[in-house]
Amino acid sequence: MLGVTGGIAAYKSIQVARDLTRLGAEVDVVLTHSAQKFVAPLSFEGVTGRRALTDLFSAEGAALHVRLGRDADVVCVAPATADFLARAAQGRADDLLCTTLLATRAPVVICPAMNDRMFAHPQVQENLVHLRDRLGYHVAGPVEGALAVGEGEGPGRMLEPWQIEEAVGRALGRSPNLDGRRVLVTAGPTQEPIDPVRYVGNRSSGRMGYAIAQAAWRRGALVTLVTGPSELDHPYGTDVIPVETAVEMHEAVSGLIGTAEVSVFAAAVADFRPVGPRAQKIKRESEGAAMSVEMEANPDVALDTVPARRPGSIAVGFALETGDLVENARGKLVRKRFDLLVANDANEEGAGFGVATNRVTLLGAEGSVEALPLLGKDEVAEEILDRVERLLHPVVETAGGEA
Ligand code: CTP
Repeated sequence: MLGVTGGIAAYKSIQVARDLTRLGAEVDVVLTHSAQKFVAPLSFEGVTGRRALTDLFSAEGAALHVRLGRDADVVCVAPATADFLARAAQGRADDLLCTTLLATRAPVVICPAMNDRMFAHPQVQENLVHLRDRLGYHVAGPVEGALAVGEGEGPGRMLEPWQIEEAVGRALGRSPNLDGRRVLVTAGPTQEPIDPVRYVGNRSSGRMGYAIAQAAWRRGALVTLVTGPSELDHPYGTDVIPVETAVEMHEAVSGLIGTAEVSVFAAAVADFRPVGPRAQKIKRESEGAAMSVEMEANPDVALDTVPARRPGSIAVGFALETGDLVENARGKLVRKRFDLLVANDANEEGAGFGVATNRVTLLGAEGSVEALPLLGKDEVAEEILDRVERLLHPVVETAGGEA
């Protein structure tokens, strides 16, 4: 169920309703009286294919709020205005949305949106604390950013639709095996400076690692993402540590690996860096007809941090190959002490760098080899995490099904 209250951010909620519907959800939208000053029920009906609801006493049948509350797997209120927060915190039952909130036992996600000074008001803050700590609602956002009337010194702006959808995903998708666990992910390329304007890098977009970080967060994990330069939005809810070089990534991972219960090495780390990057831009004239850049070895982040890994933790590595996939990947799994290795072939269409899909082969430390079909990177992330969960909590096989 998506509750919409009366703020200008309500236009973004149409996108939320549309995206959730496309993901396969049946979205019941409930608009308050003032929400309808900003957006029309018809806009939501157009994207959900379902009747948008507005009245506590309506032709939809008796006790509509009880039915909505019971049927909902998750309730999300976006935008949540200051007035709504006050009414929800008081347990008021004067409209369909607030009444449904009282009638549901589903997880509730609240996405506040208001002027920054209103948001900072002590009463608004107190209402939020009550909703979060006493009622167990998940409060997602607001963030700093442009606000309707051009202020915006402090937080007040509603999350973007994709971030709200991730918060809804987490409310629905926490997994007992990953909930509250510390997950460390490396992602992206590294950039090794030659001079102040040039670097040695690679074509990694960061997509695979970002997808894993986001999926682990949806499953309830506490995720830290150490990422080389990437154009992608930071995965919602995760702690992001941006780095540029392999040495910086090595340093960041060294400080975190001891507490990680799961570590995923998805970064495409440069194996070599230019010796002594120049302080001034290299000039064409000074180099003549040819130039060369001398390179020296970088630390291997995954290998060097093996001794510092938390005992009993699970480590996942990646291997991008252009030949002898399984053999090369098996060598890396053994050498770098991975529990699971995700191998892919850079020459294969739809796999590797810069695309949204991947065709991977999963190698287990116990010798298993499993080739997955071509999947979206989000789907590959889920497959990897399913196996990580099994490694954290191995299923005990029982002979003949007898316990
Ligand atoms: N890796 C790392 N630090 C490096 C290089 C690699 O942490 N300096 C990690 C990658 O994140 C990946 C795994 O090690 O999980 C294998 O990376 P890959 O580049 O395929 O392996 P290399 O050992 O560098 O072998 P190759 O000679 O094929 O480049």
